[in-house]
Amino acid sequence: MKDGKPTRATRAVYPGSFDPPTNGHLDVIERAARCFGELLVAIVVNPQKRAPMFGLDERVAMLKESVAGLSNVRVEHFRGLLADYVRAAGADVIVKGLRVVSDFESEMSAALMNRSLSEVDTLFLMSDQKYSFVSSSLVKEVFFLGGDVAALVPEPVLRVMTEKRTSLQRR
Ligand code: PNS
Repeated sequence: MKDGKPTRATRAVYPGSFDPPTNGHLDVIERAARCFGELLVAIVVNPQKRAPMFGLDERVAMLKESVAGLSNVRVEHFRGLLADYVRAAGADVIVKGLRVVSDFESEMSAALMNRSLSEVDTLFLMSDQKYSFVSSSLVKEVFFLGGDVAALVPEPVLRVMTEKRTSLQRR
C-alpha cells in the first residue's frame, strides 16, 4: 500500500468446503473475479462439520473445470486455520457469499475471528436470489434421493456426482 493506493492487484480468497461446488458458489466466484485482481478459491481439506462426501482431488477437479474460463481465478486448498492460509497466501481480503439472514450470524463471528487472527477483512457478496436456497448439503440430499439438481450445479459437478451415485449403487 502506497499513499492509500494498492501497489499490486488485490488478492482475494474465497474459502469453502465445496462438497460439492454449486451454481451459487460459481455465481459468487464469477462476481468476485470481476471485483478483485486475483481470486484464490481455497478448499478446506477437512471441513469441521463432517467428513466430506467428495475427496479433495474430486473437489479440486470439479472446481478447476467449472472456473476454467476465468483467467484470474486459481483453485487451491488448505489445512488448518483459514487465517494462517490467508496470511501465507499474501491475501488482502476474504470473500464470502451471504444467502439468507441466518448466514449472517455465523459469518459475522467468523469474520471478526479471522480479522483478529490475521488482520484480513472479510467482504460479503449477497448471493443471487435464485440461489438463496441452494446449499451443498441440500443438493447432495436431493440428488442421492433421486431428485433433479441439473439447474443447481455446474455441468462438471453433475458429471462427478452422477459417477459417484453409480459407484455407490454398485456396492
Ligand atoms: O463452505 P463452508 O463449509 O461454509 O466453509 C467453511 C470454511 C471452510 C470457510 C470454514 O469452516 C473455515 O474457515 N475452516 C477452516 C478452519 C478455521 O479457520 N476455523 C475458524 C474459522 S473463524
